[in-house]
Amino acid sequence: MLVCIPNVLDAAQLVSVRERLDRANAWVDGRVTAGYQGAPVKFNQQIDELSEVAVSCQRIVVPALERNPLFISAVLPNVIYPLMFNRYSEGMTFGAHVDGSVRISPHDGRKIRTDVSATLFLTNPEDYDGGELQVEDTYGRHSVKLAAGDMVVYPATSVHNVTPITRGVRTSCFFWVQSLIRDDQQRALLYEMDGAIQRLNQTNADQTARRSLIGCYHNLVRQWSET
Ligand code: NI
Repeated sequence: MLVCIPNVLDAAQLVSVRERLDRANAWVDGRVTAGYQGAPVKFNQQIDELSEVAVSCQRIVVPALERNPLFISAVLPNVIYPLMFNRYSEGMTFGAHVDGSVRISPHDGRKIRTDVSATLFLTNPEDYDGGELQVEDTYGRHSVKLAAGDMVVYPATSVHNVTPITRGVRTSCFFWVQSLIRDDQQRALLYEMDGAIQRLNQTNADQTARRSLIGCYHNLVRQWSET
């Protein structure tokens, strides 16, 4: 399930994050965090997730994620890996790969299973050419290029790539989440059910039936979740 989440950051938060990243001198070759599969096809730059600039940007973005009902509904986050930041300038690209299944938290060495991958776009599409995120699933290949401040989440099991940049610079925040619900199909069912409940709550639909449906949602989460 691929879900686009609009306006994760408001205009002021976006400016604040971009200013910090644009003046940072902590950019390094993105291959420092790539595994043996990703390293040969990865050509971009990243900021050390423990650097001062990364931490200050994380402090803006993480609360915005935690307040976002669509993110919570679609991802059902358990552990969010420390947010990372990357940029692609002209000629840079990231070939087809699958993200590593387990990441080690740089803070406490904890192992985090990557169930969901996320990209929060920080550059408006008109400021660069190329740089589409392409995600493959059983329905084919989806090309994603969102407005600055918008985010896409997709199963970390997906093959994906970033097409070469032919003009400008594309800056993004990216990260992984260990979800309460490991299985993408179960997560997709819960997301659809929660959306239907939210819409029903805005109507005068039978209250007993709605309560029963809400109970089913929570009981499914209880049954399927891992903490
Ligand atoms: Ni990736």
